[in-house]
Amino acid sequence: MDIRILRQKIEKIEMLPTVPDVIKRLAVIIGNPKISLSEISSFISSDPVLTSRILKMVNSAIFGFPGRISSVTHAVTLLGFNVIKGLLMGVTVLDLMETTMIGLREHSIGCAAAARTIAARKGLKNTEDVSVAGLLHDLGKVILLLQFPQDYGMVLKTAERKGMLVYDAEQEHFSESHATVGLWLAEKWQFPKHLTDVIAFHHKPGLAKDAPMETAIVHLADILTRGMGFGYAGDALVPAVSPAAFEQLNLSEEDIRDVLRTIDSMKGMGDDLGW
Ligand SMILES: [Fe+2]
Ligand SMILES: [Fe+2]
Repeated sequence: MDIRILRQKIEKIEMLPTVPDVIKRLAVIIGNPKISLSEISSFISSDPVLTSRILKMVNSAIFGFPGRISSVTHAVTLLGFNVIKGLLMGVTVLDLMETTMIGLREHSIGCAAAARTIAARKGLKNTEDVSVAGLLHDLGKVILLLQFPQDYGMVLKTAERKGMLVYDAEQEHFSESHATVGLWLAEKWQFPKHLTDVIAFHHKPGLAKDAPMETAIVHLADILTRGMGFGYAGDALVPAVSPAAFEQLNLSEEDIRDVLRTIDSMKGMGDDLGW
């Protein structure tokens, strides 16, 4: 597919009928630089399902404030602007994941929890940002699936038939991967730079510009989640970990064991999270 046409189609996402209203509405809120924390708070509070999902998510291992956050206002104040915006997008996208690719939601939840654990073990201060990045790293897959369901079906079949990574099959079919498609949207929606970097480069962490550490973390979390057989990311293969990223993270055996335990603890979490 011609890259220019692909990009145009992706960037016009709000105008296309295949995209659910909720993501269009959310895109307007997230893309508005003038929106205040209290406006976001009331947007969430006006929807009981959204409220309960956000609260369950922030109190789960994905964020690591177990049982401590009891209200939307508390969550919004504690997590701040960027995290709450990312989380809102995350909750919506997770829903879409289940309708587009079964298992992608678990993959994303597992990756988010694993990424947070790595970030915490590395002593990073912005572990919540890393959770959101883990949650949204495969955003491009959902968008490709929504926009080009038939084409993406062919991509998945090719990956399976040829025993190749879905990432490579996407490149072959669309000339670009879900990582680039995610990048286009992240830029359009003015996601924070670290989140954009993770979405764009989680398969090539060496290319990260603004957030090499966060990108390396999600890169490894993604692969460990696949390795544990938790969820489904489009193929049954486990890609190789970038040696440079692994070296950069410099994790001990105990760190890795902790991450694997976290992923394991997320099994069955979908029910607890209200899905
Ligand atoms: Fe990916
Ligand atoms: Fe992934």
